[in-house]
Amino acid sequence: MKRIKVLVCFGTRPEAIKMAPLIKTLKKHDMIECVVCVTAQHRQMLDQVLELFDIKPDYDLDIMKENQTITHITGSVLEGVSGVLRKEGPDIILVHGDTTTTFASALAGFYEKVTVGHVEAGLRTDNKYSPYPEEMNRRLTSAISDLHFAPTPSNKANLIKENIVADNIFITGNTAIDALFMSVKADYVFEEESLNSIDYKSKKVIAMTAHRRENLGTGMESIMRAVKKTVLLNPGVQIVYPVHLNPIIREIAARILGDVPGITLTGPVNVFDMHNLMARAYFVMTDSGGLQEEAPSLGKPVLVMRTETERPEAVLAGTVKVVGVDENDIFNEAKRLINDKSAYDLMANSVNPYGDGNASQRILNALLYFYGIIGEKPKDWKVFDA
Ligand code: UD1
Ligand code: UDP
Repeated sequence: MKRIKVLVCFGTRPEAIKMAPLIKTLKKHDMIECVVCVTAQHRQMLDQVLELFDIKPDYDLDIMKENQTITHITGSVLEGVSGVLRKEGPDIILVHGDTTTTFASALAGFYEKVTVGHVEAGLRTDNKYSPYPEEMNRRLTSAISDLHFAPTPSNKANLIKENIVADNIFITGNTAIDALFMSVKADYVFEEESLNSIDYKSKKVIAMTAHRRENLGTGMESIMRAVKKTVLLNPGVQIVYPVHLNPIIREIAARILGDVPGITLTGPVNVFDMHNLMARAYFVMTDSGGLQEEAPSLGKPVLVMRTETERPEAVLAGTVKVVGVDENDIFNEAKRLINDKSAYDLMANSVNPYGDGNASQRILNALLYFYGIIGEKPKDWKVFDA
């Protein structure tokens, strides 16, 4: 029987983190030939993940520019990935999530008439500008894709509402949890030296990240001011914030938080550092998508500094709260978690609505089934399997 040639294509840090376990799984199987193409929409933040997981791409489009526009990313990814598809002629291209690399790679697949598989399919807010441009990237990618790997049952339901054929949807859990299960250890030593000297026992450590495009400007300024107030008005709190390399974010973070006692600013840390930082933190404040999936698995409350989320499962489970981007709202919610033990305990449940660590294996099985290598359709992941 002929091997299935799979082109895995991604470009940013979160895509890399969530595709890494899948690439490892695909590469181990005899019937799969796995070719890796990175667009390098991110450069240093992508390379950090590739190095950690020891992934050596077959193609590197190296498209990143300082302060790049979405138009630049779309055009160069479309052009570059189309070229790789023409050269490799894969059976399927796999894309991940909601970035502009995701959408433009899927579009390239469609133009070259290659089957498209979408990992982390079906997340929705139903507001086309929030998150921007990710909500629309996801919807367009779903419209193009042939196979849909939905992390959760509600993600599948969203796809069915858009007339995606149920037979082509596989509920797999999220590969983010596969990566998380590889990394958290009680005796972990951080690569980022400043994280080793933090007093996680007697301080209430808050792990924080912020980078969303729709928050750039007033939203981001208000997030940073709320965080500053949180640390200044609540003794015993320590905030650890690995700052994204976007120059706009770096400027705001350095200006508002740079010299504040109790705040540790670092550059982007490797993902094993990030997971272990969250595991030792008291709670998490973020506008990131990935952190909303990881922290609940670690039993850490999350305050989401956005107006809405495409990940409602952990909100329903009570571990995640969407607090918006108003300075006072963020400050008040953080203050409550710091000072009100019963409010904290209500949120600090370890829940796994996003996966059980076996999503990559399920995606592999779905591919083997789709290409007729195994006869039976793989069972959908159910949250209570976790
Ligand atoms: C992108 C994705 C977003 C995802 C986020 C994860 C789009 C439009 N946005 O947003 O969905 O949540 O990645 O982090 O697809 N930069 C560097 N080095 C890096 C990475 C970024 O210098 O390794 C700087 C560059 O100046 C770049 C800027 O950050 O132009 C913004 O990067 P970009 O990928 O356009 O947007 P993100 O905000 O990172
Ligand atoms: N992350 C990381 N280093 C950091 C900050 C985040 O490795 O300094 C990880 C985090 O644990 C998660 C992923 O990056 O797995 C989330 O990426 P990001 O916040 O950039 O994007 P989003 O998830 O919002 O798309």
